[in-house]
Amino acid sequence: MANVEKTLVLVKPDGVKKHICGEVISRFERKGLILHSVKMIQVPEELAKKHYAEHAGKVFFNDLISFITSGPVLAMVIEGENAVAAVRQINGATDPIKAVPGSIRGDFATSIDENVVHASDAPETAAREIALWFPELN
Ligand code: CMP
Repeated sequence: MANVEKTLVLVKPDGVKKHICGEVISRFERKGLILHSVKMIQVPEELAKKHYAEHAGKVFFNDLISFITSGPVLAMVIEGENAVAAVRQINGATDPIKAVPGSIRGDFATSIDENVVHASDAPETAAREIALWFPELN
């Protein structure tokens, strides 16, 4: 297998409240990706701020931190060939109104603020985010 990657995926508080964690995991597994690590976390504010550091200063930053810390999050490491791009395709566009039907956001969300899932946007980001959310894997 060429280009095996790991990527970080979060089922955000809205996804957990909608009871679709299993559905989300199932979509990755059906694609042929591997569930490498998984845990349910009540996100500390410090972790939220580190995770979203690139958005610090943006108008939506405070809302982002409030939302991701508002309830339990399912964090997972997904592994497989071209996993970063494959997961982003399964998730769909960040704005659920632009996400195609059949993608997770296209099927389960309507708001960019509560868009069910987060996934790393590049292999370098994935390495940083996995180290942040799963320090025990280092
Ligand atoms: P996520 O992949 O978790 O990364 C940053 C999040 O910011 C994004 O998903 C959206 O849920 C949220 N967000 C809110 N407003 C915007 C915006 N205008 N552009 C991009 N992301 C936004």
